[in-house]
Amino acid sequence: MTNFDALTPEALRARGSMKWNRRGPEVLPMWVAEMDYPLADPVAAAIDEVVARQGFGYAEVDDRVPRAFADFAARRLGMTVNPGWTTVVPHVLAGIEIAVEVFTPKDAGVVVTTPAYMHFLVIPGLTGREAVEVPLLETRGAASVDEQWHLDLEGIERAFANGARSLILCQPYNPVGKVFSREELAELARIVARYDGWVISDEIHAPLTLPAIRHLAYSEVDETAASHCVTITSASKSFSMPGLPCATVSLHTQAGHDRFVTNAHPDHLYGATTLGIEANVAAFTGGDEWLDGALAKIAQNVARTKAFVDAELPDVRYVPGDATYFAWLDLREAGLGDDPAAWVLDKGKLWMNPGGDFGANGKGFCRLNLATTSAILDDGLGRLKAALDAR
Ligand SMILES: Cc1ncc(COP(=O)(O)O)c(C=O)c1O
Repeated sequence: MTNFDALTPEALRARGSMKWNRRGPEVLPMWVAEMDYPLADPVAAAIDEVVARQGFGYAEVDDRVPRAFADFAARRLGMTVNPGWTTVVPHVLAGIEIAVEVFTPKDAGVVVTTPAYMHFLVIPGLTGREAVEVPLLETRGAASVDEQWHLDLEGIERAFANGARSLILCQPYNPVGKVFSREELAELARIVARYDGWVISDEIHAPLTLPAIRHLAYSEVDETAASHCVTITSASKSFSMPGLPCATVSLHTQAGHDRFVTNAHPDHLYGATTLGIEANVAAFTGGDEWLDGALAKIAQNVARTKAFVDAELPDVRYVPGDATYFAWLDLREAGLGDDPAAWVLDKGKLWMNPGGDFGANGKGFCRLNLATTSAILDDGLGRLKAALDAR
């Protein structure tokens, strides 16, 4: 069994990733979405096998990843995926960019709800389209993430009425951690269908839905949703291997798939590597035990963080999410202005993502990465408290 407390900061720095090496060793990095855990054994074995056969040529992309993902989705995500309507791409963000181009007319806007995973705000512009920001509605002071954050369905309807023709959905939602309900998504589907639009659903965090909570794929909401949905995902986030390119784009009708493969340029689709493909197949087929262990560890860290914040940090609000390993910490009452992460980095040497990077309504928040060991988490929470005590 994997020991999710095994790795030290020294061992993590030695891995050479951006997360642990961009700043000096005095800074504790709890920012970018990467886990501080040993690689899942089946994934490590698959990579060893590629290395042993020196399999570093151009990858022959076949249907093994689509089939492995379809089995995983049925087993763990309550989601039907047709491998025949699933295309392999190098990265989730690449898949989103291609989907925006294929499913949004050139002069139409792309709705991005905020706070948003920052790249969503950039991608429409890369394709020459406008990102139309529609902030989530917030019930301030709500006790659960499901009560706190809602899609602004009227705002989304207005954006479509003004010419938007697609929406990038993040289900589960980075950064707030919500799994949107069937009712909320069914209403979204009715609006999008009214304008003959598309939902580009990034579900990379779906396997990270916490124990006792169920993911709901947008394509599973109802037939209307499925008919205009592009689902994009990868095992890269949930098995922490973003350096091994391989992701999938799934359509949920024959017509949708035909439109995608006819209009997506093959040069844009190509780029998944042999390592990425084998790692995704191994994770989707043999990774359940590791993933269950990681989720149990993350759930433990969520509870630990909630208890610490409530007991020690009266000016910070933390509403645990349904999914993802992020704590979306609300420091708006902490008297540190729009960018409390900068203060905490300076005074506490703890590096979190500044909430303002996720859009204007992220100002005053910090995103803390909880996919770490107990020792690193305790160090991080201690640094957060020290920084707040230094006000
Ligand atoms: C919602 C979301 N989508 C996509 C990505 C990145 O995926 P990829 O590296 O495959 O482009 C991330 C990474 O954190 C993410 O949080």
